[in-house]
Amino acid sequence: MSSDPAAVAETTRVQQAVIESVAPQFRHNPYDSYEILRTAGPFVPGPHDTHLVTRHTEAQAILIDPRWSHAEEPDLLHGDSDVELPGSFLWMEPPDHTRLRGLVGKAFTARTVTALRARAEQLVEELLTAMLTAGEVDLLEALAYPVPLTLICEMLGVPTEAHAQVRSMSAGIARGLDPDVLLGPEELAARTAAVHEFTAFFGDLVEQRRKNPQPDVITALVQAEEAGVRLTHTELIGTLLILVVAGHETSVNLIANGVLALIREPGEFRRLRADPDLAGPAVDEVLRYDAPVHLTTRTARAELTIGGRTFAPGDAVIVLLGSANRDPAAFPAADRFDLGRYLPGRRAERHLSFGLGLHYCLGAPLARLEMRTVLRALGVRVTGLSLLAEPPYRPNVVVRGMSELHVRVEGR
Ligand code: HEM
Repeated sequence: MSSDPAAVAETTRVQQAVIESVAPQFRHNPYDSYEILRTAGPFVPGPHDTHLVTRHTEAQAILIDPRWSHAEEPDLLHGDSDVELPGSFLWMEPPDHTRLRGLVGKAFTARTVTALRARAEQLVEELLTAMLTAGEVDLLEALAYPVPLTLICEMLGVPTEAHAQVRSMSAGIARGLDPDVLLGPEELAARTAAVHEFTAFFGDLVEQRRKNPQPDVITALVQAEEAGVRLTHTELIGTLLILVVAGHETSVNLIANGVLALIREPGEFRRLRADPDLAGPAVDEVLRYDAPVHLTTRTARAELTIGGRTFAPGDAVIVLLGSANRDPAAFPAADRFDLGRYLPGRRAERHLSFGLGLHYCLGAPLARLEMRTVLRALGVRVTGLSLLAEPPYRPNVVVRGMSELHVRVEGR
């Protein structure tokens, strides 16, 4: 190690940034530490012999290359604990990944999502009317949670009276997606309880649908299971788990992050009000600017050289999606929230918030529909939006977001 004081200070600064980039107490702003890490290099040594992937070029190249596997993530992040998260195709590789994703894809088509448009609009209109009547609300409770939770539960076929239970189970599981080393005993116990409750709850619902089929995704998956021995019961529960947890914990944060960005950048909110059609490209800018999912992992299956560095088989990396999205080499004025960045003529670089390659987010069309509907309704109906308090953040590192967002809202 160098004895040059400047070099030592720089090493300490980078080490501190590594800690802050994944530490629960720095959730309100991981972006300053990301900047230090990107400047330090494309790969920075991270916890447990991993490397943090800090820049857009390398992050994109790794995600798109199937020689980097996602199957080891449960061992990498959750190897220390007794309870297993039910296996889902998020953590599988072909051929199992192809088989299961194909089955879900059939039950979860773009057409199914398009058919939800009118329902999404109606729901957002109702919630916004209630918000405008109240004047001051916690936006997470008033809008960000109910929109995605209601839509995913209705798609799956979860009865309305059980939506709140699904929300609480899913929150326990989402927190448990963080590396086990970052979780305390109570959080690990809460995850265990949530996984057991989830398995029992959805096990019952599966049985009900087996006896009494309905026009919903659970029935479609049950029938896929029965039509051939292609989906085991465990796979079915694992698939439902990923649909429920990924299907709303992420979108909640997208909605809340978007509203916060509009409050902090009133000029961009005025732009949206002047042209609510900006809602479409604005969805991608919110995804880029303040990603709901901040990291994923990959493990090399072979000797792989990337960005001038060679990884041995079994070497693991943590891809910092939230950092790649703010890389100034990929995005001019990367720290600026610019609602028009993704207007068709501007050819902006793609963000990595939905991942890329084999595991590219299956729910991206649904998440986009939800966010576009919310942004358009805000642009059309809301004339004033302001913060009542600085929002606190949940400790979650992987699925990052606020725990409360108290706002004053005015409009028609
Ligand atoms: C803003 C909202 C969302 C964000 C930011 C998001 C983000 C992501 C990311 C980053 C991945 C890839 C993970 C990786 O490669 O390691 C992913 C995968 C996935 N997402 Fe989403 N997601 C969102 C909404 C949804 C919704 C609404 C659903 C379902 C209803 C969903 C279902 C899935 C599934 C099933 C996968 C696994 C795909 C596979 O392994 O083939 N997501 N998502």
